[in-house]
Parts: sequence; structure tokens; C-alpha cells
Amino acid sequence: MPAIVLIGAQWGDEGKGKVTDQLGERVDYVVRYSGGNNAGHTVITPDGQKYALHLMPSGALSPNAVIVIGNGVVVDPKVLLSEIDGLAERGVDVSRLRISGDAHLIMPHHRALDRVVERYLGSSRIGTTGRGIGPAYGDKVARMGIRVQDLLDPGILRKKLELALREKNQVLFKVYNRKAIDVDATIEEYLEYAERLRPYIAETRVMLWDALDRGDTVLLEGAQATMLDMDHGTYPFVTSSNPTAGGACVGAGIPPTAITKVIAVSKAYTTRVGSGPFPTELFDDNGQHLRKVGHEYGTTTGRERRCGWFDAVVARYSCRLNGVTDLVITKLDVLTGLPTVPLCVGYEINGKRVDDMPMTQTDFHHATPIYEEHDGWWEDITKARTEAELPDNARRYIARIEEQPRLP
Ligand code: IMP
Ligand code: MG
Repeated sequence: MPAIVLIGAQWGDEGKGKVTDQLGERVDYVVRYSGGNNAGHTVITPDGQKYALHLMPSGALSPNAVIVIGNGVVVDPKVLLSEIDGLAERGVDVSRLRISGDAHLIMPHHRALDRVVERYLGSSRIGTTGRGIGPAYGDKVARMGIRVQDLLDPGILRKKLELALREKNQVLFKVYNRKAIDVDATIEEYLEYAERLRPYIAETRVMLWDALDRGDTVLLEGAQATMLDMDHGTYPFVTSSNPTAGGACVGAGIPPTAITKVIAVSKAYTTRVGSGPFPTELFDDNGQHLRKVGHEYGTTTGRERRCGWFDAVVARYSCRLNGVTDLVITKLDVLTGLPTVPLCVGYEINGKRVDDMPMTQTDFHHATPIYEEHDGWWEDITKARTEAELPDNARRYIARIEEQPRLP
């Protein structure tokens, strides 16, 4: 089995890590291809300890798999090193890590700008994770980014940082009234990271092509999710990269023809962190139920996640956009105990029924979900491992999701 892409079908936190675990030992390479330490997934180490990872793919714990941080990722070296140390302390072999020299670095001015810009936006803020993700990608696109490979050449590193800070310090100081960032201190700090990261930096593309030629299994693990995609999500309330399946090719350097499977993960309901439209959002006791029972608090920022019902329009959009071959539904047990479980099967927008994502964001903001009401169930399903073990009502609910047009 060659390249498999694993993506989130909603706004993130769908439980992609669990699916990676299930693919387990059949995976030879696990690759992160976009985003940075804005992501967060809780993993259980081999000795049973719970541990939150942000930059490393959740597949970092798959035994024997080579862990790859692809060119499409933005790397905060301090965070990466603390994850390397944290995993090593827990007995995980991190010598399997490879970082693309083409990945971009998150620098101190990116973190500073992320925070001040959000403050400046006030009620129009995106609700970012404040990790410097947007500014780092912004510099990448503006061709003033600093890459992982620049860590290996102190002369280049200094030249690029001086150039970037010549502008950014003006912005920080004159526009936002913040302290300028010191070039020397930053260089010193980053050269220390460089020494520690050096053994992991590699030409990851060639390595992955060779792996695919041998018939190894490469898992391209998405962070964030479809609706947070820069191009296809709810812009501007998105992250600054392409977490969708197409982004996997770009962010890992793998050709589209190598991909044989696209697995999408969706919760049995919906959550979202940060600002932006969310048609099926709940503000009542049902929303509280989902948040409480589903432990819907961000892994990275601890923020309360916004909660709502399953949205088949979003699911359909994700499945078509990503060419999904397999859809995994997680956290069905969170719905246990609700008298009725509504399923959004379409929207009403300006008095018209709509089954696909509307063209404009304004229409999406005004979308009123059309719900199909399903009877709930009270039986404990946490131990159920097969469909047959589910109560009839739970089975019917899942069947109705499966029956939605254009889902795999
Ligand atoms: P940024 O990626 O920090 O710039 O944040 C942009 C938007 O994406 C915000 O609404 C964040 O809450 C959201 N976001 C970023 N990463 C994740 C994630 O891993 N899970 C859920 N939401 C995320
Ligand atoms: Mg998460």
C-alpha cells in the first residue's frame, strides 16, 4: 500500500490520531505536511502515559515508522526540541525523525506579530492559536522566510534574519508599539537549536520517493482540517496552510499519482475552535452536553470548543474536495443520553434549499440548517467494537450519515 492521506473533514480535532493508531504497524513512514504547533493531539505512550504533541505527527508512536516533518510545515524549533526530549524521556526512539530542510522556521517575530495582530483586530480576530503560524506562512509566501536548512549556515541565517527584522522590527515598534527583536540574541538562540536539530535534517522528498518505490506505506497525516484550509475553508477564519489532501502532495513532495487512499475523519457531531461561521452551532444545553461529555477543550490553547450537530453539507464538501475513499466517524458515544439527535442534511439560505456549500461566505453565514431528527439511545456503547453491538437508534443514525449523497 503506497501513500495514504489522513485528513480532518471538519474544523479539526476529529480524532485523526486514533485512526493513525489503528493503521499502526502497517505504516513505514508517517509524514506531517502542513501547519505547525497550532495542532495538538493527545497520544498515549507505550508505557501508558498520556502526552500532548503539537508538531510531531501523532503517528510518532507507531513502532518503527520513520517520522517525517515535511517541507510544508512551519517549525518552531524550541517546541520541536521539547517534544523530542519529552518523547525520549518516555522511552520513544526519536532517532527515526527526519525534518525537511525546506520547511520554514517560526521565528520570534512571527510569534510576536501573531499576538499583536490578533489584539489589533479586536472583535474581528481570527482566534488563532498565537503560535506565529500565520506570520510564518506570510513570510514564506512573501519570500522572506527562513528555512530549516538555513540553520546549517550561520552566515545565511544572520543575513536572512537581519533582512526580515529590518522590516518586522519597524512594524512591531512603529505600528504596534512593541519592543524590537534583537538579532544577536535570536541568532544565538537559533544556533543552539541548530546544533541539536542537525542530525535530523534531511532531504525528505528523495527519501519518501525511495520508500514508495520499495512499496513501503507512507501515511500523510493532516493537521487541522478541511474547513480550516486557506483556499477551501471559511476564509479568513482559517489556518494559513492547506490541510486538505491536495496540500499533502505539496507539503510532502509526493506526486498525486502515488496516493491510493484518502481517509477522512469526522466526529459524529461538529466542533470548532476560534472565530468564523458554523451553521449547526449550539448555544443550549445540547451544546453543553457535547462539550462536557466530549471533553471539548483545545489541546493547544485549552479554549472551549464550540459544539454543534453533524453537518452533512460540510461532510459532502470534504469528501468531494479531498477525494475521500474512507470516512471514519469518531466519538459517537458522546451522543449517548440525548433524547433526540438532529442531523443537518442541507441548508436553507434566503428561503432556498441548498445541499452544497454556497458560493459566498455571506450565504454560509446565513445558512439555516435543515435537520432530520433521530431518536437517541441510552445504552453504553463505549465497549462496542462492531456495528452489531450498537443499539438500533445509534445504528440508524450512522446509516443515515452513510446515506447522504456523495459520501463514500
Ligand atoms: P492559527 O492556525 O493559529 O493561525 O489559527 C487559525 C484558526 O485555525 C483558528 O481558528 C484556530 O483556532 C484554528 N486552528 C488551528 N489549528 C487548529 C487545530 O489543530 N485544531 C482546531 N483548530 C485549529
Ligand atoms: Mg487537535
